[in-house]
Amino acid sequence: MTTVIYPGTFDPITNGHTDLVKRATTLFDKVILAIAVNPAKSPVFSIEKRLEMANTALSSIDFPSQKSVQVCELEGLLVNFAKDHQAKAILRGLRAVSDFDYEFQLAGMNRKLAPDIETLFVTPSEKYAYISSSLVREIAALGGDVTDFVPENVKAELLRIMS
Ligand code: COA
Repeated sequence: MTTVIYPGTFDPITNGHTDLVKRATTLFDKVILAIAVNPAKSPVFSIEKRLEMANTALSSIDFPSQKSVQVCELEGLLVNFAKDHQAKAILRGLRAVSDFDYEFQLAGMNRKLAPDIETLFVTPSEKYAYISSSLVREIAALGGDVTDFVPENVKAELLRIMS
């Protein structure tokens, strides 16, 4: 069985993220969305809420049969998490050239730490290329419509937390 880890802060999960998970299920048997606690980023949503939002959003998607999608909390080093789950690869989304420097650095560091784990980059559908979690939060906070950017359950949480 081939397993890939898709790590991130997911504060909150967006349609760009779910698009990437769908793409990953065409390549791997098992996709683990690993939600980093990431206190350094001071997430707006608690880790429990981020896990719940991702689980609800992904459970409403029909993935190909025989494929497994899991949501887990990520604490500690990503490469250790990947090893613990027998994953051969880490998945990251590349939306624009501006993502590249940071992603290149992250992939390089992870390769140093665990040379046998590959980082794979996948581009989201172009309609999601401009989405980011912080922009979505900002739009929601300013009363904008986030329907096209996030799953329905996430939209409800954004409206609740921003009101
Ligand atoms: N669609 C929409 N948005 C996307 C996206 C996609 N396909 N891919 C990335 N993004 C956005 C995110 O929404 C996020 O936006 P924001 O900054 O506005 O919140 C941004 O791109 C990047 O966030 P994310 O993909 O969640 O990555 P991150 O930088 O928050 O997370 C980790 C980085 C979790 C992978 C990294 O911190 C990590 O590995 N932590 C574990 C500890 C560790 O091993 N550290 C050593 C690393 S060498």
